[in-house]
Amino acid sequence: MKRVGFIGWRGMVGSVLMERMMAENDFAHMESHFYSTSQAGGTAPKVTNGNPVVLNAMDPQELAKMDMLVSCQGGDYTKEIFPQLRKNGWKGLWIDAASALRMDNDSVIVLDPVNRANIQKALDSGVKNYIGGNCTVSLMLIALHGLFRENMIEWVSSMTYQAASGAGAKNMIELLDQMKTVGNSFAKHPAMGALELEKEMNTTLASSEFPKANFGHPLALNLLPWIDSELPSGQSKEEWKAQVEANKILGNTTPIPVDGTCVRVSALRCHSQGLTIKLKKSAHLSTVEEIIRSANDWVRLVPNDKATTLRDLTPAAVTGRLHVPIGRLRPMTLGDTYFNAFTVGDQLLWGAAEPLRCVLRQALQ
Ligand code: HSE
Repeated sequence: MKRVGFIGWRGMVGSVLMERMMAENDFAHMESHFYSTSQAGGTAPKVTNGNPVVLNAMDPQELAKMDMLVSCQGGDYTKEIFPQLRKNGWKGLWIDAASALRMDNDSVIVLDPVNRANIQKALDSGVKNYIGGNCTVSLMLIALHGLFRENMIEWVSSMTYQAASGAGAKNMIELLDQMKTVGNSFAKHPAMGALELEKEMNTTLASSEFPKANFGHPLALNLLPWIDSELPSGQSKEEWKAQVEANKILGNTTPIPVDGTCVRVSALRCHSQGLTIKLKKSAHLSTVEEIIRSANDWVRLVPNDKATTLRDLTPAAVTGRLHVPIGRLRPMTLGDTYFNAFTVGDQLLWGAAEPLRCVLRQALQ
Protein backbone atom coordinates (compact mmCIF):
# COMPACT_ATOMS: atom_id res chain seq x y z
CA MET A 1 0.00 0.00 0.00
CA LYS A 2 1.37 3.44 -0.95
CA ARG A 3 2.26 5.84 1.86
CA VAL A 4 0.60 9.22 1.45
CA GLY A 5 1.40 12.24 3.61
CA PHE A 6 -1.02 15.12 4.12
CA ILE A 7 0.10 18.63 5.01
CA GLY A 8 -2.31 21.51 5.71
CA TRP A 9 -5.26 19.17 6.28
CA ARG A 10 -6.66 21.42 9.05
CA GLY A 11 -6.99 24.52 6.84
CA MET A 12 -10.04 25.34 4.75
CA VAL A 13 -9.08 23.52 1.52
CA GLY A 14 -7.49 20.71 3.55
CA SER A 15 -10.65 20.21 5.65
CA VAL A 16 -12.83 20.06 2.55
CA LEU A 17 -10.38 17.55 1.04
CA MET A 18 -10.55 15.39 4.21
CA GLU A 19 -14.36 15.48 4.18
CA ARG A 20 -14.52 14.47 0.54
CA MET A 21 -11.93 11.69 1.00
CA MET A 22 -13.92 10.27 3.90
CA ALA A 23 -17.16 10.48 1.91
CA GLU A 24 -15.54 8.57 -0.98
CA ASN A 25 -13.74 6.04 1.27
CA ASP A 26 -10.44 7.08 -0.30
CA PHE A 27 -8.38 6.33 2.81
CA ALA A 28 -9.01 2.59 2.34
CA HIS A 29 -6.72 2.72 -0.71
CA MET A 30 -3.61 4.13 0.99
CA GLU A 31 -1.62 4.30 4.20
CA SER A 32 -2.15 7.86 5.49
CA HIS A 33 0.21 10.02 7.52
CA PHE A 34 -0.71 13.48 8.77
CA TYR A 35 1.89 16.21 9.10
CA SER A 36 1.80 19.55 10.88
CA THR A 37 4.10 22.56 10.88
CA SER A 38 3.25 23.29 14.54
CA GLN A 39 1.62 20.28 16.23
CA ALA A 40 3.86 17.26 15.57
CA GLY A 41 3.21 14.52 18.14
CA GLY A 42 -0.49 15.36 18.38
CA THR A 43 -3.38 13.09 17.51
CA ALA A 44 -4.09 12.56 13.81
CA PRO A 45 -7.60 12.27 12.36
CA LYS A 46 -9.00 8.74 12.70
CA VAL A 47 -9.10 7.31 9.20
CA THR A 48 -8.77 3.81 7.76
CA ASN A 49 -5.07 2.81 7.56
CA GLY A 50 -4.04 6.10 9.20
CA ASN A 51 -1.01 6.74 11.42
CA PRO A 52 -2.57 8.02 14.69
CA VAL A 53 0.35 10.36 15.49
CA VAL A 54 0.92 13.68 13.71
CA LEU A 55 4.39 13.99 12.13
CA ASN A 56 6.62 17.04 11.64
CA ALA A 57 5.91 18.83 8.34
CA MET A 58 9.15 20.82 8.62
CA ASP A 59 11.34 17.68 8.63
CA PRO A 60 12.32 16.78 5.03
CA GLN A 61 13.57 13.35 6.10
CA GLU A 62 10.27 12.51 7.73
CA LEU A 63 8.43 13.74 4.62
CA ALA A 64 10.72 11.78 2.28
CA LYS A 65 9.43 8.48 3.72
CA MET A 66 6.20 9.03 1.74
CA ASP A 67 5.43 7.84 -1.79
CA MET A 68 3.17 10.86 -2.27
CA LEU A 69 2.68 14.14 -0.45
CA VAL A 70 -0.50 16.20 -0.65
CA SER A 71 -0.06 19.81 0.47
CA CYS A 72 -2.84 22.30 1.21
CA GLN A 73 -0.48 24.29 3.40
CA GLY A 74 0.03 27.22 1.02
CA GLY A 75 2.64 28.61 -1.34
CA ASP A 76 5.18 29.73 1.27
CA TYR A 77 5.42 26.19 2.63
CA THR A 78 5.79 24.77 -0.90
CA LYS A 79 8.56 27.22 -1.72
CA GLU A 80 10.44 26.36 1.45
CA ILE A 81 10.07 22.56 1.64
CA PHE A 82 9.58 21.27 -1.90
CA PRO A 83 13.04 22.29 -3.25
CA GLN A 84 14.73 20.68 -0.23
CA LEU A 85 12.89 17.41 -0.82
CA ARG A 86 13.86 17.25 -4.49
CA LYS A 87 17.43 18.36 -3.72
CA ASN A 88 17.69 15.45 -1.28
CA GLY A 89 16.61 13.12 -4.09
CA TRP A 90 13.00 12.45 -3.06
CA LYS A 91 11.25 10.91 -6.09
CA GLY A 92 7.68 10.80 -4.79
CA LEU A 93 4.60 12.53 -6.23
CA TRP A 94 3.97 16.06 -5.00
CA ILE A 95 0.27 17.05 -5.14
CA ASP A 96 -0.35 20.68 -4.20
CA ALA A 97 -3.24 23.14 -3.95
CA ALA A 98 -0.92 26.18 -3.97
CA SER A 99 -0.05 28.05 -7.14
CA ALA A 100 3.73 28.13 -6.54
CA LEU A 101 4.68 25.32 -8.99
CA ARG A 102 1.70 25.55 -11.36
CA MET A 103 3.42 27.06 -14.36
CA ASP A 104 6.67 25.07 -14.00
CA ASN A 105 7.50 22.94 -17.04
CA ASP A 106 7.75 19.79 -14.95
CA SER A 107 4.30 20.15 -13.39
CA VAL A 108 0.80 19.31 -14.60
CA ILE A 109 -2.22 21.41 -13.59
CA VAL A 110 -4.83 18.83 -12.66
CA LEU A 111 -8.53 19.05 -13.48
CA ASP A 112 -9.91 15.52 -13.76
CA PRO A 113 -13.10 16.17 -15.76
CA VAL A 114 -11.14 18.12 -18.38
CA ASN A 115 -7.60 16.70 -18.58
CA ARG A 116 -7.71 13.22 -17.00
CA ALA A 117 -6.16 11.69 -20.12
CA ASN A 118 -3.24 14.14 -20.03
CA ILE A 119 -2.77 13.45 -16.32
CA GLN A 120 -2.61 9.72 -17.10
CA LYS A 121 0.00 10.32 -19.81
CA ALA A 122 2.04 12.39 -17.35
CA LEU A 123 1.80 9.69 -14.65
CA ASP A 124 2.85 7.05 -17.17
CA SER A 125 5.80 9.12 -18.33
CA GLY A 126 7.09 9.77 -14.81
CA VAL A 127 6.00 13.40 -14.17
CA LYS A 128 6.15 13.95 -10.40
CA ASN A 129 4.39 17.27 -9.70
CA TYR A 130 0.59 17.64 -9.89
CA ILE A 131 -0.86 21.02 -8.98
CA GLY A 132 -4.47 22.14 -8.59
CA GLY A 133 -5.47 25.07 -10.81
CA ASN A 134 -6.79 28.50 -9.91
CA CYS A 135 -10.39 28.14 -8.78
CA THR A 136 -12.03 30.43 -11.36
CA VAL A 137 -10.04 28.80 -14.15
CA SER A 138 -10.99 25.27 -13.09
CA LEU A 139 -14.67 26.16 -12.69
CA MET A 140 -14.82 27.96 -16.05
CA LEU A 141 -13.17 25.01 -17.82
CA ILE A 142 -15.62 22.50 -16.34
CA ALA A 143 -18.50 24.72 -17.48
CA LEU A 144 -17.15 25.37 -21.01
CA HIS A 145 -15.41 22.00 -21.43
CA GLY A 146 -17.55 20.94 -24.40
CA LEU A 147 -16.90 24.09 -26.43
CA PHE A 148 -13.16 23.91 -25.75
CA ARG A 149 -13.06 20.20 -26.59
CA GLU A 150 -14.82 20.80 -29.92
CA ASN A 151 -12.30 23.58 -30.62
CA MET A 152 -15.16 26.05 -31.14
CA ILE A 153 -13.85 28.93 -29.02
CA GLU A 154 -11.90 31.82 -30.53
CA TRP A 155 -11.69 33.70 -27.22
CA VAL A 156 -13.52 34.10 -23.91
CA SER A 157 -13.92 37.13 -21.71
CA SER A 158 -14.70 36.20 -18.11
CA MET A 159 -15.89 38.81 -15.63
CA THR A 160 -15.72 37.17 -12.22
CA TYR A 161 -17.69 37.57 -9.01
CA GLN A 162 -15.37 35.83 -6.52
CA ALA A 163 -16.36 34.76 -3.03
CA ALA A 164 -14.57 35.70 0.19
CA SER A 165 -13.38 32.09 0.68
CA GLY A 166 -10.93 32.52 -2.20
CA ALA A 167 -9.04 35.01 -0.05
CA GLY A 168 -8.92 32.59 2.91
CA ALA A 169 -10.74 31.63 6.09
CA LYS A 170 -9.85 34.85 7.94
CA ASN A 171 -11.35 36.90 5.13
CA MET A 172 -14.59 34.90 5.23
CA ILE A 173 -14.91 35.64 8.92
CA GLU A 174 -14.00 39.28 8.35
CA LEU A 175 -16.77 39.62 5.76
CA LEU A 176 -19.28 38.29 8.30
CA ASP A 177 -17.86 40.66 10.89
CA GLN A 178 -18.30 43.54 8.45
CA MET A 179 -21.91 42.47 7.87
CA LYS A 180 -22.49 42.32 11.63
CA THR A 181 -21.09 45.85 12.01
CA VAL A 182 -23.40 47.07 9.25
CA GLY A 183 -26.33 45.26 10.87
CA ASN A 184 -25.60 46.79 14.27
CA SER A 185 -25.41 50.25 12.73
CA PHE A 186 -28.76 49.67 10.98
CA ALA A 187 -30.33 48.45 14.23
CA LYS A 188 -29.41 51.76 15.92
CA HIS A 189 -31.51 53.72 13.40
CA PRO A 190 -34.73 51.76 12.91
CA ALA A 191 -36.79 54.78 11.82
CA MET A 192 -34.47 56.22 9.15
CA GLY A 193 -35.47 56.32 5.48
CA ALA A 194 -33.43 54.62 2.76
CA LEU A 195 -31.32 57.64 1.75
CA GLU A 196 -30.54 58.58 5.34
CA LEU A 197 -29.61 54.97 6.04
CA GLU A 198 -27.33 54.90 3.00
CA LYS A 199 -25.43 57.92 4.40
CA GLU A 200 -25.25 56.27 7.80
CA MET A 201 -23.91 53.03 6.31
CA ASN A 202 -21.29 54.86 4.30
CA THR A 203 -20.13 56.54 7.51
CA THR A 204 -19.97 53.10 9.14
CA LEU A 205 -17.90 51.72 6.23
CA ALA A 206 -15.50 54.70 6.35
CA SER A 207 -14.99 54.52 10.12
CA SER A 208 -11.52 53.55 11.37
CA GLU A 209 -13.27 50.99 13.60
CA PHE A 210 -14.71 49.09 10.63
CA PRO A 211 -13.16 45.56 10.56
CA LYS A 212 -10.96 45.33 7.46
CA ALA A 213 -7.55 44.05 8.61
CA ASN A 214 -7.61 41.23 6.02
CA PHE A 215 -9.36 42.71 2.97
CA GLY A 216 -8.00 46.21 3.64
CA HIS A 217 -11.37 47.60 2.49
CA PRO A 218 -15.05 47.10 3.13
CA LEU A 219 -16.46 44.18 1.12
CA ALA A 220 -19.91 44.23 2.77
CA LEU A 221 -22.15 46.68 0.84
CA ASN A 222 -19.29 46.95 -1.63
CA LEU A 223 -17.18 45.04 -4.14
CA LEU A 224 -13.44 44.98 -4.80
CA PRO A 225 -12.39 44.95 -8.47
CA TRP A 226 -8.80 43.81 -7.85
CA ILE A 227 -7.66 40.35 -6.70
CA ASP A 228 -4.01 39.49 -6.04
CA SER A 229 -0.98 41.55 -7.09
CA GLU A 230 -0.48 44.10 -9.90
CA LEU A 231 1.27 43.10 -13.13
CA PRO A 232 2.94 45.40 -15.71
CA SER A 233 0.26 44.38 -18.27
CA GLY A 234 -2.35 46.22 -16.17
CA GLN A 235 -3.94 42.89 -15.28
CA SER A 236 -4.24 41.62 -11.76
CA LYS A 237 -2.37 38.35 -11.19
CA GLU A 238 -5.74 36.60 -10.86
CA GLU A 239 -6.71 37.88 -14.34
CA TRP A 240 -3.35 36.79 -15.81
CA LYS A 241 -3.88 33.24 -14.54
CA ALA A 242 -7.05 32.78 -16.60
CA GLN A 243 -5.32 32.46 -19.96
CA VAL A 244 -2.03 30.85 -18.97
CA GLU A 245 -3.56 28.21 -16.71
CA ALA A 246 -6.55 27.44 -18.95
CA ASN A 247 -4.29 26.83 -21.93
CA LYS A 248 -1.87 24.73 -19.90
CA ILE A 249 -4.74 22.56 -18.62
CA LEU A 250 -6.16 22.20 -22.13
CA GLY A 251 -2.68 21.37 -23.50
CA ASN A 252 -2.98 24.06 -26.20
CA THR A 253 0.13 24.91 -28.17
CA THR A 254 -1.60 27.97 -29.68
CA PRO A 255 -3.17 29.77 -26.73
CA ILE A 256 -6.84 30.69 -26.77
CA PRO A 257 -7.18 34.23 -25.33
CA VAL A 258 -9.03 34.33 -22.00
CA ASP A 259 -9.24 37.67 -20.20
CA GLY A 260 -11.52 39.83 -18.10
CA THR A 261 -11.86 41.62 -14.78
CA CYS A 262 -11.72 39.67 -11.52
CA VAL A 263 -13.90 41.08 -8.78
CA ARG A 264 -14.32 40.12 -5.14
CA VAL A 265 -17.97 40.13 -4.02
CA SER A 266 -19.65 39.28 -0.76
CA ALA A 267 -20.57 35.65 -1.57
CA LEU A 268 -19.07 33.21 0.93
CA ARG A 269 -17.69 30.22 -1.02
CA CYS A 270 -18.98 30.16 -4.60
CA HIS A 271 -17.28 31.95 -7.45
CA SER A 272 -19.47 33.17 -10.31
CA GLN A 273 -18.43 34.32 -13.78
CA GLY A 274 -20.18 36.24 -16.53
CA LEU A 275 -18.83 34.97 -19.84
CA THR A 276 -18.69 36.45 -23.32
CA ILE A 277 -17.82 33.58 -25.63
CA LYS A 278 -16.57 34.31 -29.14
CA LEU A 279 -16.98 31.25 -31.32
CA LYS A 280 -14.85 30.58 -34.38
CA LYS A 281 -17.99 29.99 -36.47
CA SER A 282 -21.65 30.75 -35.93
CA ALA A 283 -23.57 27.92 -34.27
CA HIS A 284 -27.21 27.34 -33.38
CA LEU A 285 -28.13 27.85 -29.71
CA SER A 286 -29.40 24.27 -29.44
CA THR A 287 -26.06 22.92 -30.72
CA VAL A 288 -24.09 25.01 -28.23
CA GLU A 289 -26.44 23.89 -25.42
CA GLU A 290 -26.02 20.21 -26.26
CA ILE A 291 -22.23 20.44 -26.51
CA ILE A 292 -22.00 22.20 -23.14
CA ARG A 293 -24.51 19.90 -21.43
CA SER A 294 -22.90 16.62 -22.47
CA ALA A 295 -19.23 17.47 -21.84
CA ASN A 296 -18.62 15.91 -18.41
CA ASP A 297 -20.40 14.54 -15.33
CA TRP A 298 -20.34 17.83 -13.41
CA VAL A 299 -21.55 20.57 -15.73
CA ARG A 300 -25.31 21.35 -15.53
CA LEU A 301 -27.03 23.46 -18.15
CA VAL A 302 -29.58 25.77 -16.52
CA PRO A 303 -32.40 26.81 -18.88
CA ASN A 304 -32.33 30.52 -19.65
CA ASP A 305 -35.52 31.50 -17.85
CA LYS A 306 -35.85 33.79 -14.87
CA ALA A 307 -37.36 31.40 -12.32
CA THR A 308 -34.89 28.54 -12.93
CA THR A 309 -31.93 30.90 -13.12
CA LEU A 310 -32.73 32.57 -9.81
CA ARG A 311 -33.36 29.19 -8.18
CA ASP A 312 -30.38 27.21 -9.54
CA LEU A 313 -27.69 29.62 -10.74
CA THR A 314 -26.64 31.49 -7.61
CA PRO A 315 -23.87 31.06 -5.03
CA ALA A 316 -26.54 30.27 -2.41
CA ALA A 317 -27.89 27.41 -4.56
CA VAL A 318 -24.51 25.92 -5.43
CA THR A 319 -22.60 26.15 -2.14
CA GLY A 320 -21.29 22.79 -0.91
CA ARG A 321 -22.26 21.05 -4.17
CA LEU A 322 -20.07 19.42 -6.76
CA HIS A 323 -22.04 20.25 -9.89
CA VAL A 324 -21.08 23.33 -11.93
CA PRO A 325 -24.17 25.03 -13.37
CA ILE A 326 -23.96 27.25 -16.43
CA GLY A 327 -26.92 29.25 -17.67
CA ARG A 328 -28.00 32.59 -19.14
CA LEU A 329 -26.83 30.98 -22.39
CA ARG A 330 -28.05 32.99 -25.36
CA PRO A 331 -26.74 34.48 -28.61
CA MET A 332 -25.67 38.11 -28.14
CA THR A 333 -26.59 41.12 -30.24
CA LEU A 334 -22.83 41.66 -30.82
CA GLY A 335 -22.88 39.25 -33.78
CA ASP A 336 -23.78 35.68 -34.68
CA THR A 337 -20.61 34.17 -33.23
CA TYR A 338 -21.05 35.66 -29.75
CA PHE A 339 -22.72 33.87 -26.83
CA ASN A 340 -23.49 35.12 -23.35
CA ALA A 341 -23.30 32.76 -20.35
CA PHE A 342 -23.09 32.79 -16.58
CA THR A 343 -21.61 30.06 -14.41
CA VAL A 344 -21.28 29.38 -10.67
CA GLY A 345 -19.13 26.85 -8.82
CA ASP A 346 -18.11 25.92 -5.30
CA GLN A 347 -14.67 27.42 -4.91
CA LEU A 348 -13.53 24.84 -2.35
CA LEU A 349 -14.78 21.71 -4.15
CA TRP A 350 -13.99 21.67 -7.90
CA GLY A 351 -12.25 25.00 -7.33
CA ALA A 352 -9.67 23.52 -4.96
CA ALA A 353 -9.99 20.17 -3.15
CA GLU A 354 -11.65 17.88 -5.69
CA PRO A 355 -8.98 18.01 -8.41
CA LEU A 356 -6.39 16.99 -5.78
CA ARG A 357 -8.56 14.12 -4.54
CA CYS A 358 -9.06 12.87 -8.09
CA VAL A 359 -5.38 12.95 -9.06
CA LEU A 360 -4.49 11.16 -5.83
CA ARG A 361 -6.94 8.34 -6.63
CA GLN A 362 -5.73 8.21 -10.23
CA ALA A 363 -2.10 8.01 -9.11
CA LEU A 364 -2.95 5.20 -6.66
CA GLN A 365 -4.55 3.05 -9.37
N1 HSE B 1 -7.21 33.14 -6.05
C1 HSE B 1 -8.56 32.77 -5.81
C2 HSE B 1 -9.31 33.88 -5.15
C3 HSE B 1 -8.68 31.56 -4.96
O1 HSE B 1 -8.68 34.81 -4.63
O2 HSE B 1 -10.52 33.84 -5.14
C4 HSE B 1 -7.77 30.42 -5.22
O3 HSE B 1 -7.79 29.89 -6.51
